Order: sequence, then structure tokens, then C-alpha cells
Amino acid sequence: MTEADRELYDRAVLVAARAYAPYSKFNVGAAVRARDGRVFEGVNVENAAYPLGVCAEKSALVTAVGAGCRPGELEAIGITASPCGGCRQWLHEFGLDRVIYANNEREVVSATPAELLPDTFEL
Ligand code: THU
Repeated sequence: MTEADRELYDRAVLVAARAYAPYSKFNVGAAVRARDGRVFEGVNVENAAYPLGVCAEKSALVTAVGAGCRPGELEAIGITASPCGGCRQWLHEFGLDRVIYANNEREVVSATPAELLPDTFEL
């Protein structure tokens, strides 16, 4: 893993402290780096109506898109948890090269969106 990718993951760890997860108490942070070097952060945001909660990686991607980024313009994302199924589809949509995340053994690993979600749905 490159030093820059490790730094991205470490930034996600710092960001996780700002998560709003009073129900699960499972704080997640994410940091996505655009190809132009900008980094956008996200945390999970829960709601009393549980299904309305938003994952950290999705909120980081939303922030990046709001700043003008489009599919293909994002290089890598660091996430402090193993991305859920729905977020894997989001990671695929935005054409990231690498996803750096803490797997269920708490190891920090790197994978491509295609490795995380094969045979992906596309329109
Ligand atoms: N969560 C994320 O933020 N990202 C993932 O990919 C895994 C799950 C959040 C959602 C919820 O707020 C909490 O972790 C427990 O599921």
C-alpha cells in the first residue's frame, strides 16, 4: 500500500470521531481523494427512523459530488469499516481505483471496487 493511501485511511480514522451514531454506537469515517488531490470527508449519520441512516463512505462521496467531482475523478477512498453491499455499488459507480478499508479482522487492506462487487449492476 502506498504512503498516500495509508494517509487516507488514517484520515478516515480521525474523521470517525465526528460520526453521529447514537443508535449503533458504531462510528465510521471515510476520506476520498480526488485525482486533483482534494480530499473529502464523510461520517455515518444515523436517525431514530433507523433505515434513514447514511453510511460514511456514501456521505464522503456525496460531499465530493457536491464539490463538482464526477465518476472517474476520484482516485481512492479510505474507510474505517468494510463497506456494506449498497456502498459497494456506489464505489463502483464513481470508478475509484482503490478502496482502503479495515476488514472484519481489523486489517487495513486495499481492493478494487470490482473485487468488492463483481458482476455489478449498470445502466
Ligand atoms: N456503516 C457505514 O457507515 N459504512 C459501512 O459500509 C458499514 C456500516 C454504518 C451504518 C450504521 O450507522 C453503522 O455503521 C452500523 O451499521
